Amino acid sequence: EFHKHPRDAGLSSAGLLGKYDRQQLQRGFQVYKEVCAACHGLKYVAFRDLQDLGYSEAEVKAIADQWAIETPSVNPETGEAATRKNLPADNFPSPYPNEVAARAANNNALPPDLSLIAKARHDGSNYVYSLLTGYRDPSPELLREFPDSKPGQGLYHNPYFANLNIAMPPPIVSEGQVTYTDGTRPTVDQMSKDVAAFLTWTAEPKLEQRKSAGLASLVFILVFCFLAWGAYKNVWRGEP
Ligand code: HEM
Repeated sequence: EFHKHPRDAGLSSAGLLGKYDRQQLQRGFQVYKEVCAACHGLKYVAFRDLQDLGYSEAEVKAIADQWAIETPSVNPETGEAATRKNLPADNFPSPYPNEVAARAANNNALPPDLSLIAKARHDGSNYVYSLLTGYRDPSPELLREFPDSKPGQGLYHNPYFANLNIAMPPPIVSEGQVTYTDGTRPTVDQMSKDVAAFLTWTAEPKLEQRKSAGLASLVFILVFCFLAWGAYKNVWRGEP
């Protein structure tokens, strides 16, 4: 009872015929870029995939080129580890060179890659939204029943996180943390919904095709049922 089921983010991609809201995906990408990318990579998503959100080829090129985290590479002269600017065909790099560095920067916790988080967690889209907006003090009832659940050093209580104490500091804390250019008011709730929508897209970029193929299949099966029923009536018409 102390671990809560996600609240509904009301995303347009949910439901039988859900479709992505491209404006929202672009806003969510902006939140990812300006807030989450400091700690989380998106290793299964390439910069050029952003064209699906409505960015032009030139815009994608500029986004990749200006991305704050560079792609790991090797200096061909010396063989030493180096980095280079990203190209549209590169995937979003992790902000840390390896797990040791990632943990060292995060109080020994490991920020997971977010490409598939919306699929990896139960009710993932709503989960991301709820997690981001779910930080609060542990309730007195919880502390009474489980005194050990008090968050330790570097941990934060969040009833949507499976063990109730998460090592991620609240990333979205104040209105206007990002500046939207489409006139949408960047409230904490809105930014959390937008980045949840974006992470739904990274986890399932072909969601719209899947849903419309599903609907087409259902229509086909329905038509086929009537045909089969008509054939049956025809074959068994008249004398026994
Ligand atoms: C974990 C999302 C920003 C550090 C997570 C998880 C999600 C998430 C979904 C996984 C929870 C789970 O395992 O179920 C986001 C989003 C961000 C963001 C959407 C931006 C809005 C950040 C930032 C930092 C950070 C800026 C670093 C300062 C971590 C860490 C964990 C984590 C350390 C692991 C927590 C643990 O295992 O206890 N994040 N994050 N995150 N995040 Fe973030």
